[in-house]
Amino acid sequence: MSQNNKLTKTWYYKSAFDGLPKEDDFEMKVTDLPTIADGEFLCENLYLSVDPYMRYFASHMTPGQIMVGTGVSRVIESKNEKYPVGTLLTAACGWTTHFVPKEIDMQHSVFKVIPVDLEEPSLALGVLGLTGLTAYYGLLDICAPKSGETVFVNTAAGAVGSIVGQLAKLKGCHVVGCTSSDDKVAYLKEIGFDGAFNYKTENMKEKLKELCPKGIDCFFDNVGGSQFDIALSEMNRHGRVALCGSISLYNEKEMFQVKGPYVHLFAIHNELKIQGFMVFTLYKDRFVEAFKEMHGYLTEGKISARDHVVEGFESMPKALIGLFHSVNVGKVVVKC
Ligand SMILES: NC(=O)c1ccc[n+]([C@@H]2O[C@H](COP(=O)([O-])OP(=O)(O)OC[C@H]3O[C@@H](n4cnc5c(N)ncnc54)[C@H](OP(=O)(O)O)[C@@H]3O)[C@@H](O)[C@H]2O)c1
Repeated sequence: MSQNNKLTKTWYYKSAFDGLPKEDDFEMKVTDLPTIADGEFLCENLYLSVDPYMRYFASHMTPGQIMVGTGVSRVIESKNEKYPVGTLLTAACGWTTHFVPKEIDMQHSVFKVIPVDLEEPSLALGVLGLTGLTAYYGLLDICAPKSGETVFVNTAAGAVGSIVGQLAKLKGCHVVGCTSSDDKVAYLKEIGFDGAFNYKTENMKEKLKELCPKGIDCFFDNVGGSQFDIALSEMNRHGRVALCGSISLYNEKEMFQVKGPYVHLFAIHNELKIQGFMVFTLYKDRFVEAFKEMHGYLTEGKISARDHVVEGFESMPKALIGLFHSVNVGKVVVKC
């Protein structure tokens, strides 16, 4: 199809979410492709990332704005010699099929995909993108696990969790994860977890005692809420906690009405180190070193990554909602 026949499709945040997002809360508009001036280039998204943070972030957006998000794109028309036609890049472009990065974006949020043979460009959004970097720094920098220690991660079959578990195995740790179905538990065993359980059907405290007989040294928390409370109560003295996400709370309407237990005594008594982090801000100057290491692990077969691919740009809202119905194993991306 010639570019002249193509159109830009863009999803907008139409109405404020009330709990779990609904497809009606989004609106797609179709416009002509943007034109480019000297120094500019036109990008076409190949894949868009679908992430839990979008739900949380949107609650701070004004209806009418483009939904926030990141894509891996190819340059399809260019008047900028640094970005010739065919260049692959990732950009914080929002939920759109086509876009022209502006000067400000190019300083802050456009990255050329580091020129490795990315057979599958979607990897640049997952294990070789922010997802992988989140796992890498949250585990290795914040939890800093030592060989022989026990690492526990929740949403362990998800994009971040599955990489956390595999990195912890590479560090010689005893690795335990939880997730919401028996099929996902089987996947965790396949990728090397020493222990895994279904938190929907098992008693979490009992399973942690059974699968982490020496207690937990490092806890990578993606969920918050009661999973956080229970795992914290099984931690060893001087344990480390990476507060990565709290997906169990993103759809809460009244966050501060959710009651404890209050876990301070465990944390104080055991002298735990608990640190929240945002990979994009805390580690923004250290992406390349982690990328190189993750790429090495991937090509040497030391870690594996699975994508949950949803077909079609029109499916963006459905794909986001699916995260909160636990549909995925691995990284959710939409193939545009
Ligand atoms: N701090 C940072 O810089 C940063 C960066 C990226 C991601 N994150 C956070 O990391 C976490 C994982 O992100 P991801 O991209 O890897 O997503 P993901 O784990 O691939 O997908 C979401 C998963 O969350 C679980 N889930 C959904 N609703 C839940 C609920 N109410 N209670 C408990 N679990 C629920 C489901 O897994 P199960 O089937 O296993 O329950 C679902 O498959 C999220 O909290 C995200 O916000 C933080």
